[in-house]
Amino acid sequence: MTDALAPLSLRDVEAPNRIAVSPMCQYTCEDDGLPTEWHRVHLGSRAVGGAGIVMTEATAVEPAGRITPHDLGIWSDEHAAALEPITEFVRDQGGVPAIQLAHAGHKASKTRPWDGNVPIGPDETDPDGATGWEVLSPSPDAYPPFEGDRPAMRKADQDDIQGVIDAYRAAAERSLDAGFEIAEIHAAHGYLLHEFLSPVTNRREDDYGGSFENRTRLVREVVRAVRDVWPEDKPVFVRISGTDWLDDREPESWDIEQSVRLADDLAELGVDLVDVSSGGLHPDEAIPGGPNFQVPLAERVREGADVAVGAVGGVTEPEQADALVRNGRTDLVLVGREFLRDPYFGLHAADELERDPAEAAKQWPVQYRRAVRR
Ligand code: FNR
Repeated sequence: MTDALAPLSLRDVEAPNRIAVSPMCQYTCEDDGLPTEWHRVHLGSRAVGGAGIVMTEATAVEPAGRITPHDLGIWSDEHAAALEPITEFVRDQGGVPAIQLAHAGHKASKTRPWDGNVPIGPDETDPDGATGWEVLSPSPDAYPPFEGDRPAMRKADQDDIQGVIDAYRAAAERSLDAGFEIAEIHAAHGYLLHEFLSPVTNRREDDYGGSFENRTRLVREVVRAVRDVWPEDKPVFVRISGTDWLDDREPESWDIEQSVRLADDLAELGVDLVDVSSGGLHPDEAIPGGPNFQVPLAERVREGADVAVGAVGGVTEPEQADALVRNGRTDLVLVGREFLRDPYFGLHAADELERDPAEAAKQWPVQYRRAVRR
């Protein structure tokens, strides 16, 4: 039976186990999108800690796609070169380095969470003196009332849309140069691609709005562009919000049945795994929370579409992660906050789940073996 410690093979990439670090923004760059010592230590310690896949935070494909001026980016060769030591280190620890490629759409240009998460206009600065910018939106008139007004929004025209697709393609090429082995396209949490998917935020009347086919066009075009430059032997993931959690508005919100249909389309375009998160689109969302709160969404995609899935949300215990894989509810478990509480969650999972203690001990870095409990 497959369990959380079993390797996961997708194309020619093999993760040593099925526990991944979920992408988590650190908002810790200067105003240039380049990784800092923090990123090296943060991602490096999760690799030391036994994660099978170590995924970067949402990494902006162009400067306007950053949530805050302090987000990580990959829009130049300098970014790729600066990320390379991180991917090398992750690989040296036996993990698979993955990057989440993102564009924040109309949720871009904000202060950091610890500075209030408020929109910054193009003439305004955050407490660190970083300037805001005009943000891109499918439909500025449908902007959900998040924190504060959003005066400087630009409705994405055909050139903007092509620019986003090209930026994703270039970012994927640079991710490869940087040594990443998995590219994840961020199409969740109310950011640009999700804004196009959901009828709540997409009121367009052109080829990118209206029908399911039209609302999913941009994500399909982005996937095609990425798949075009991403090698055949390496996997592509897409993170989606399985639902907007705005059920009272159905059928006018994004829901799980549309997600299943999209997942099938994405698989046909060469996506290997759909990472099923949820929400983030609208402040009225009713997110349940608690252990495994999004797992039923991943499970439904796994049943309904011909693609591997990742489950995320409220996973805090090794046995819990193991049960999700053993019971066939998911192929991969992504762990977010628990990996912040315990950077060695992967090693602790091996200690707890591995039947043979000698095998579990082998997973600890050789430098730490004298500390392994016998
Ligand atoms: C996140 N999350 C997130 N998701 C994503 O797709 N891209 C990102 O960059 C971020 N950034 C981020 C930062 C921080 C500090 C947290 C806590 C979360 C969401 C994250 O990946 C995960 O889906 C959720 O945290 C739910 O999983 P856990 O934390 O319950 O395991």
